[in-house]
Amino acid sequence: MATYRIAVLPGDGIGPEVTPEAMRVLAAVAKGAGVSLEFEQALVGGAAIDTAGEPLPAASMALCQQADAILFGAVGGPRWDDLPPERRPERGLLALRKELDLFANLRPARCFPMLVDASPLKRSVVEGTDLMVIRELTGGLYFGEPRGVERFADGGARAINTMAYTSREIERVARMAFEVARKRRRRLASVDKANVLVVSQLWREIVTRVGREFPDVTLEHVLVDNAAMALVHRPTQFDTLVTENTFGDILSDEAAILAGSMGMLPSASIGGKVGLYEPVHGTAPDIAGKGVANPIAAILSAAMLLRYSLDMAGAADRVEAAVERVLGQGHRTADIARPGEKTLGTREMGDLVVREVEAGA
Ligand code: IPM
Ligand code: MG
Repeated sequence: MATYRIAVLPGDGIGPEVTPEAMRVLAAVAKGAGVSLEFEQALVGGAAIDTAGEPLPAASMALCQQADAILFGAVGGPRWDDLPPERRPERGLLALRKELDLFANLRPARCFPMLVDASPLKRSVVEGTDLMVIRELTGGLYFGEPRGVERFADGGARAINTMAYTSREIERVARMAFEVARKRRRRLASVDKANVLVVSQLWREIVTRVGREFPDVTLEHVLVDNAAMALVHRPTQFDTLVTENTFGDILSDEAAILAGSMGMLPSASIGGKVGLYEPVHGTAPDIAGKGVANPIAAILSAAMLLRYSLDMAGAADRVEAAVERVLGQGHRTADIARPGEKTLGTREMGDLVVREVEAGA
């Protein structure tokens, strides 16, 4: 029997609440598929700072490097907000992305038909939305040098971050994006700020060049400010989008609204030796510890793990179909419920998906 090792890093906030539900779903689907999954937990983020004094202890890094895939929760929270950037919980996630060379972050945003009314946007805008944001994840402002703060004697200061990309970094994420677009509706929008930034001019040049290898995919270039508007104005015009790190961070949160709730959005960070799968929603400190967080983003991230790291597309389909059936039966967590509608907790929603996975096996 095939055996896979899954490193589990629940992290902070609602991470430790939603991650176990994703694990249960994975265990159920693996059982049906005759595959054995070994889960090993490790510390990351604020939880790791409190216990081990750093956001990504060496043992956690080692576990991830040896795993077949990483199931990640979320990191950060108000308790650690006063720490300098280099010691914050978020640094643990950034170090993992960089060390494991996870340069492509896939964030699908789909408006499930039964959740059309959960989005604060009009039905006429969101209905039919099915897009994929591919965010470059190991370059740009997040990692560029030089960076830092200079303090002046007169009390003033100057801070620097650098947006830098090499042609190689652009090329590899562009190629990944074209390949993803090819399996979807064969339309790729490359988002940049080429009317102002030289980095974006290089981005556009390289993406255009890579595009020549994919004559079957229609490429368009969209300026980021315009893309931000188009996403909430006419999201159905998009299929696959590719963009640099910071633009992708911002646009993918915006895209979450199209899916009804942040609690619905999964992600896959791939490109390196081992993929990392995490819900896009983050730690949600306002609802952490209450058992009400929507586990669907984590569960759909587990489906992406099956698809991209374990090459188990059939199992991934089964999980996604199970989620759709549960939603179709009218079950809702608070974030996707209409006013007055009955709501389920994290665990109850997880139970229902597990049941449907078992039923659909
Ligand atoms: C995300 C998050 C992270 C990011 C934070 C937690 C560092 O917002 O994955 O989108 O900015 O990349
Ligand atoms: Mg973000």
